[in-house]
Amino acid sequence: MSLKLGEIAPDFVQDSTEGPIRFHDWAGSSWVILFSHPKDFTPVCTTELGAVAKLKREFDKRNVKVIGLSVDPVRDHKAWAGDIAETQGQALNFPLIGDADRKVSQLYGMIHEKANDTLTVRSVFVIDPNKKVRLTFTYPASTGRNFDEILRVVDSLQLTDNYKVATPVNWKPGEDVIIVPALQDPEEIKRRFPKGYKTLKPYLRVTPQPNL
Ligand code: BEZ
Repeated sequence: MSLKLGEIAPDFVQDSTEGPIRFHDWAGSSWVILFSHPKDFTPVCTTELGAVAKLKREFDKRNVKVIGLSVDPVRDHKAWAGDIAETQGQALNFPLIGDADRKVSQLYGMIHEKANDTLTVRSVFVIDPNKKVRLTFTYPASTGRNFDEILRVVDSLQLTDNYKVATPVNWKPGEDVIIVPALQDPEEIKRRFPKGYKTLKPYLRVTPQPNL
């Protein structure tokens, strides 16, 4: 099964390094980044999990909870956690799901049989507070992900939800954004974007990032 954008992220109950997790209850009213890694005690995964733990302040600022997963059991996750702290200079500060029975991996389509028929690939799901899937992507096992890019997407999604703007190619926080084409009422545009905007084409209107 592959999850599509806009679908409700399936609920589940599964064991984790922080005890059993009932996913929707655990997520509460936060955004969630749910990501899988292929295997415990592997080098790329070790670096990824240390890097994610170091970003905790950035996740907190954005009301994001993170949760990792692999098909290894929780006891292995716990044994590996010491290596992550030792080699990455940062202890884990978010739960890792132990999906030994592959319940969640299968529910979320995290096992791509033609790549590897038993291990999860590097899947990422960004899920909003309404439990809707807002981003999915898949990396191969041998390539570590760029979690700064995932944060950038969260920033973009939150701007869209809160201010009716989209973000252009290679946008970085602080740069100009695009007024969504659906917004046409001139009075509403004036009210929403008091710093003004430029119309390059009727469908391409740029404005300073509104929440700065
Ligand atoms: C790793 O995390 O280092 C890794 C996992 C599976 C295949 C290759 C690399």
